[in-house]
Amino acid sequence: MTSRISTQAVHAGEERPKPYGALTTPIVQTSTYTFADTAEIMDFMHRKAAGDSPVRHEYGRYSNPTQVVVERKVAALDGGERALLFASGMSAITTTLSTLLSTGAHLVMVRDVNHRTMDFALLFLQRWGVETTLVAPDEPTAMAAAIRPNTRMIFSETPTNPYLRIMDLSRTVEIARQHHLMIVIDSTFATPVNLRPLEHGVDLVIHSATKFLAGHNDLLAGVVVGTNGILMEIEEARGILGGVSSPHDAYLLLRGLKTLDVRVCRQNENALRIAQFLEGHPAVRRVYYPGLPSHPEYEIAKRQMTCFGGVVSFEIEGDLEQTSRFIDRLRLPYIGPTLGGVESVVQQPATLYSIDPEEWQAGGIKDNLVRYAVGIEDAEDLMTDLSQALTGVQSTTRRVQ
Ligand SMILES: Cc1ncc(COP(=O)(O)O)c(C=O)c1O
Repeated sequence: MTSRISTQAVHAGEERPKPYGALTTPIVQTSTYTFADTAEIMDFMHRKAAGDSPVRHEYGRYSNPTQVVVERKVAALDGGERALLFASGMSAITTTLSTLLSTGAHLVMVRDVNHRTMDFALLFLQRWGVETTLVAPDEPTAMAAAIRPNTRMIFSETPTNPYLRIMDLSRTVEIARQHHLMIVIDSTFATPVNLRPLEHGVDLVIHSATKFLAGHNDLLAGVVVGTNGILMEIEEARGILGGVSSPHDAYLLLRGLKTLDVRVCRQNENALRIAQFLEGHPAVRRVYYPGLPSHPEYEIAKRQMTCFGGVVSFEIEGDLEQTSRFIDRLRLPYIGPTLGGVESVVQQPATLYSIDPEEWQAGGIKDNLVRYAVGIEDAEDLMTDLSQALTGVQSTTRRVQ
């Protein structure tokens, strides 16, 4: 039976019946799995060698029953053959890139990716003899021009952070196919509710499940989704590098995933209303949201996404200090570095990026930029709060003029 995403979020991947007749998936809190005798070990080893997978669980660094249910659910949500769960989004990214790229390979990466992903490419992959070329998200010709005979992969996010740029997936997949490259998309900001990159021909999808997938700001996790063949290699690397998710975190993620569709739909609606409100406000210089016709990739976003996501970035009519004061006047959102949870969280990227202005400006971060990760609160309440904080901006702007 084919189900829609809200049904999949609740039911996909779940065993029925479950142990003890429980309705929820149990947390199997064990580090290892034991064998009755040597004959059982021998049987297990032979079946494993024959590629009979998964035969049973062996050791917690390789698999855990709670984790496997999460993996089946995420695979269903993203429309992949299989998914692998990791201890964090960064663990999913670093394990994937270090498995699929070897010395002498070249990587094309979109410049606007999460800065830790870029650090991994420029500091670690570089050290291991993998070169990276950074390209702009909106220049397919520059991307094609960056490809060399040893290029193996294109890596991007869509939407990107913090300017919410949108990659044209069909165009990028076309370039990747022409050059026989693998294409990996970090789809953390979109979630499978808004975008299913595998349906556009992408090879692998990655999420920081810490964000929307878990949705409650109470765990770190990452997932990679794709075909069995590629994921078997990455799974082998996960067992060596050790970036597994704990059974308890896997359970919390499973619980969060069940409400993914309802949460993300609410966040989509809230974010669109807030973006429209901010765009009409005199104390706001510019709004970055892919659901606004003013967004440079609005047409692409409309074509490739269902809705536009729960993050809105905007520039205040003011300088670094005025923007900080605006942030401090907000009463509802928490101030901090994450996104995608039920609580709204706001940040001024310049203050969280580095204490050195040259560094954040070199990273393309404007002094007056605000990133607002919208939660599931009432949109009217969030706008009333934004409005009172923006009134403060207008009065300080008037005073300095
Ligand atoms: C788009 C994106 N990818 C990956 C990561 C890394 O994920 P995690 O914090 O779960 O390691 C982040 C974290 O901010 C992110 O925003």
